[in-house]
Amino acid sequence: MSEEIAFSAQGTRDEIYREIVPQIEALLARDEIANFANVAAVLKQVFGFFWVGFYRTTAPNLLTVGPYQGDLACLEIPFDKGVCGAAARTQKTVIVPDVEKFPGHIACSSRSRSEIVVPYVRDGRTRFVLDVDSDKLADFDEVDRVHLERIVALVGGAM
Ligand code: SME
Repeated sequence: MSEEIAFSAQGTRDEIYREIVPQIEALLARDEIANFANVAAVLKQVFGFFWVGFYRTTAPNLLTVGPYQGDLACLEIPFDKGVCGAAARTQKTVIVPDVEKFPGHIACSSRSRSEIVVPYVRDGRTRFVLDVDSDKLADFDEVDRVHLERIVALVGGAM
C-alpha cells in the first residue's frame, strides 16, 4: 500500500496545516514509533523544515531522541537544558524566534535559527515533545502552535 500526502503547494501555512491534519489523523496507527516516524516525515516533506522529530521521556527529567528527519541530533536532553527541556519542564509550548538569544539552547546544528517545541502531557507527566527547527529566523508563530499542538494531541491520544 502506498501513502501520499496531498496539499496545496501555493497555500498559506495555515491552509496547508488544515489540509494535512486530517490526513495525519488517518495515518495514525497503534504504534508510537510508527506514528512519530510518519508525523516527522510528513512535516518535513510538506514544509521542508530543517529538522523535525520527537524526544521521549525515558527517565525522570530526561528526554531521549526518537524518530526524526534531519541532521544527526543529540541523544539525550535533561529537562533543565535547551528548548526541548524547557517545554518538557514547563509543560507548555515554547517558541524561540532566535535560538542564539535563548539561554541554554542546545545547538544540534549551526544552521538552526528558530525553533518550536510542543510537549505532550498525560496524567501530569510530560511523555514526549515534538521539536521543529527552521533555518529561518522567527519562522514559527501562533499558527504553528495551534496546529502542532493538535497534531501532538492526536499522536499522544493514539498511544
Ligand atoms: N535545539 C534543541 C535540541 C534538539 S535539536 O535542535 C534537534 C534544544 O535546544 O532543546
